[in-house]
Amino acid sequence: MILVTGGAGFIGANFVLDWLRAHSESVLNLDKLTYAGNLHNLASLQGDARHVFVQGDIGDSALVARLLAQHQPRAVVNFAAESHVDRSIHGPEDFIQTNVVGSFRLLEAVRHYWQALPAIKKEAFRFLHVSTDEVYGTLSADAPAFTEDHVYEPNSPYSASKAASDHLVRAWHHTYGLPVLTTNCSNNYGPLHFPEKLIPLIIVNALAGKPLPIYGDGMQVRDWLYVGDHCSAIRRVLDAGRLGETYNIGGWNEKPNIDIVHTVCRLLDELRPRADGQGYAAQITYVKDRPGHDRRYAIDARKIERELGWTPAETFDTGIRKTVQWYLDNAEWAANVQSGAYREWLQTQYADTGAEIKA
Ligand code: NAD
Ligand code: TYD
Repeated sequence: MILVTGGAGFIGANFVLDWLRAHSESVLNLDKLTYAGNLHNLASLQGDARHVFVQGDIGDSALVARLLAQHQPRAVVNFAAESHVDRSIHGPEDFIQTNVVGSFRLLEAVRHYWQALPAIKKEAFRFLHVSTDEVYGTLSADAPAFTEDHVYEPNSPYSASKAASDHLVRAWHHTYGLPVLTTNCSNNYGPLHFPEKLIPLIIVNALAGKPLPIYGDGMQVRDWLYVGDHCSAIRRVLDAGRLGETYNIGGWNEKPNIDIVHTVCRLLDELRPRADGQGYAAQITYVKDRPGHDRRYAIDARKIERELGWTPAETFDTGIRKTVQWYLDNAEWAANVQSGAYREWLQTQYADTGAEIKA
């Protein structure tokens, strides 16, 4: 089996669902279930013996050591992190604890497990660390996109904590020989995205008749990738990536935030028009900018294409349409997330099964 950390969050849950659709190999899913972890995301796996969920912290060395010894995974895919830039500005401590200290403890537990493996299993083992393009800092409007050789210049507490974890992963390879792979991906969007991030927030606010907040002038540029494409890239790197290498993953979809918001509004106008006949764009509201707001991210994804033959399957047009439709079809999911009701899921749905949750 493989061990996935953070597999109840946005990308991790998409990865686990995709993995179990495509593979017979089981997944051990270790997730702390912070506010961002949602077992509703994995509800379709209930009763599927290939998915073992454990509520726990990547920084709990004893728990991780026990899980590794018990389940003997052939790989670890590390998604677990605090992931929201705005939260990192208001409260950086959790980001340091999970993204830095937690990653360090996970690496140590994995190193001890890996070192004791028999030679064949030791050789085949992989630790894949999922990271972000935000570690590279910000780009001017005409600068070339980030390559894997770009200097690390993180600007937010979130990106600094991710940069620290990337460096630890690199050091564990160079110092101890741990067979690591690192992926640095651009902004994801798609189903199961927590509505504190731009695209899902705009969709749920629009439908609720609330303001659509645009930070600053709305001309900050992000490079958007459909989450299913991120998952396929990670599977490809896990299969064939060169040890110790980093791979940038992106969708060649650079867009200013205000364009993203107008696109979402247009799709909603088409698929769920407002009762008063006005367009959703009428709800756009410019608000105070985020402190230290990075102006532009752009990923040069030629290395993963050249070496591993990966390219995204979705264009932005197809991906964003699927995403908006998913939120329209899954209004209950979004309502549960917003009301916090999903947090009761653990108790109500899993309390007396015992089988799925072994903390
Ligand atoms: P998310 O916030 O939706 O999910 C994070 C998950 O990790 C949650 O389920 C949470 O409960 C879990 N978690 C948090 N702290 C933990 C801990 N100490 N131990 C165990 N589990 C813990 O995040 P996401 O958007 O799915 O991002 C997943 C990973 O991908 C992160 O490492 C993030 O940095 C990276 N990434 C995200 C994006 C993006 O656009 N969302 C882009 C590139 C890279
Ligand atoms: P976000 O989804 O938080 O991702 P990140 O900060 O990791 O790129 O934000 C994406 C962009 O959208 C970013 O430039 C900030 C901006 N933004 C807004 O303008 N309004 C909002 O309400 C949010 C959440 C983000």
